Amino acid sequence: MLGSSNVVVMFSISGCCMCHVVKQPFFGLGVGPAIVELNKEKYSSEMQSVLYQLSGGQHSVLSVFVGSKILGGIETLMVCHINDTLVSLLKAVGAL
Ligand SMILES: *[C@@H]1O[C@H](CO)[C@@H](O)[C@H](O)[C@H]1NC(C)=O
Repeated sequence: MLGSSNVVVMFSISGCCMCHVVKQPFFGLGVGPAIVELNKEKYSSEMQSVLYQLSGGQHSVLSVFVGSKILGGIETLMVCHINDTLVSLLKAVGAL
């Protein structure tokens, strides 16, 4: 596993099957994302409302942060993966 890790943080809920899929591009690149399962956190509702605001008022089962900046939800992540911005993003924050 490369890097000091936890440059990528995913906030999700446990048992979210899409979240498993979403991890794959990161593992494929050798980046192990830190995963926070919101439903297991003590302050889960507070965290969810903060995430809601950070993502511009979008409810998402998953929010991905790269280098402490919000990237977005599943759709944004997949688009970035497909159009190759994900790699440059990860390089920019030193994860690669
Ligand atoms: C790739 O997609 C992301 C998310 O929509 C966008 O911000 C970025 O500008 C796109 N990059 C390219 C090279 O198209």
